Amino acid sequence: MTPSFDRANAHALAALVEAGRRRDIAACEDIVDDAGTKLWARGQSIRPELIERLLVRKLRRPIEQCLTARDGIAASDVVRCIERLLGGDRYLAALVGGSARDALDVARTLPLDGPVSLLLTAAEEGGRGFEHACLGALIAGGLAARAGVGQATLQRIVLGGLLHDLGELYVNPEYLHSRRELNLEEWRHVAVHPRIGALFIRENTRYGATIASIVDGHHERQDGSGYPGRATSSALRDETGWVIVAETMAGVMSDPVASPARTLLAIGLVFGEYPLAPVGLVASAQRPFPIEADPGFDRVAARADIEALRDALRGAHAAAREAELNGAGAAERRSLSRLAPLLRRLDLAFVSSGAAHFFELLGAAAETGDGEVELQLRLVPRELRWRMRSLARDVAHDLETFTDAGRRAFAPMLDALRGASPASPSAAPGAPPDPPAVAAQSATVD
Ligand SMILES: [Fe+2]
Ligand SMILES: [Fe+2]
Repeated sequence: MTPSFDRANAHALAALVEAGRRRDIAACEDIVDDAGTKLWARGQSIRPELIERLLVRKLRRPIEQCLTARDGIAASDVVRCIERLLGGDRYLAALVGGSARDALDVARTLPLDGPVSLLLTAAEEGGRGFEHACLGALIAGGLAARAGVGQATLQRIVLGGLLHDLGELYVNPEYLHSRRELNLEEWRHVAVHPRIGALFIRENTRYGATIASIVDGHHERQDGSGYPGRATSSALRDETGWVIVAETMAGVMSDPVASPARTLLAIGLVFGEYPLAPVGLVASAQRPFPIEADPGFDRVAARADIEALRDALRGAHAAAREAELNGAGAAERRSLSRLAPLLRRLDLAFVSSGAAHFFELLGAAAETGDGEVELQLRLVPRELRWRMRSLARDVAHDLETFTDAGRRAFAPMLDALRGASPASPSAAPGAPPDPPAVAAQSATVD
């Protein structure tokens, strides 16, 4: 999907029309197609007929600039939402501490451009998008303020946090909220939302390249395992790092069974994915929230899960070696050289978390009764499996550039990463579906 604003996006337009049922959204100028035909008069409220009229036309100006939400989201709404979030969550208050004030002060003076207010209004009317945006702004800004960043930087981080997911409005909501595993084409639609959000900012606001770059990078990872650009730390701005962390945390924290420990695990498990400074601050905020042992903890299931993950990781390594031996061409070698260190990091996380060898080392004596240990045993495999499936998606994406022989050589690795046994042609029956692709950046919420 190539983002473009010279035609109205069907999903964004549908969201705006839906929001217009309750909000006062109207044309702030005549909406005109590229041939000069007037399609909608200035001052006219948005209505469902606009969808038909606009979708097949190329527009003279982006629809995002031709519409206004007269009672739309303002900076004061952002402040109210952040205050409500802080008031209802002891962990959040501990996380950002006294720095919440700094983030709120910045939020109070945010310059919200008309098109941004318009999309935030649609996000709020469409569900929880606005709350997620405010949570992103609060966590990113609050943590960055705790780290002592300067005022101008803090404003960029809060704004980037608030706007990071505006591109989601341009994606088919069925894909965004799907509990089933998306096929590659569907996933590509979802994965491009940071690019769309960045382009929206460049073309429709005064915010400039830095804010666009933060939005563009909010699903990237420092080690290159993110999307859509597979960017590594050297290509990411410092401000982006705070938003990357906030985005993942906001996703995990919106889960009904979220806990501070789960949140920390999501960003701290695999060394190198997230910048160290925010991870350290999040770790220090976990201390007042001890993890209780779970009387229903199923150690047999946990052990089976860990063994299955260990086998899958071994299978993936073996398949990668095999693919290398089977005459990999340039494209295949590029893919392997990216994949190999990422897989090694997963191994390292598995072992250093203590989960990989817990039952092997302690055997029948492995009674837990320790909440922290149980949490690791339950969640580490899920976190790592989620990352393996994400790598599988990357490999599937790369296949298009491979030779037929390369595709055949990589098939077993794809199976291993998806959790299938090496002999099986596709994903294991009963394998858990991917978590929601965008909102949740951690397997802890699937
Ligand atoms: Fe996102
Ligand atoms: Fe997000």
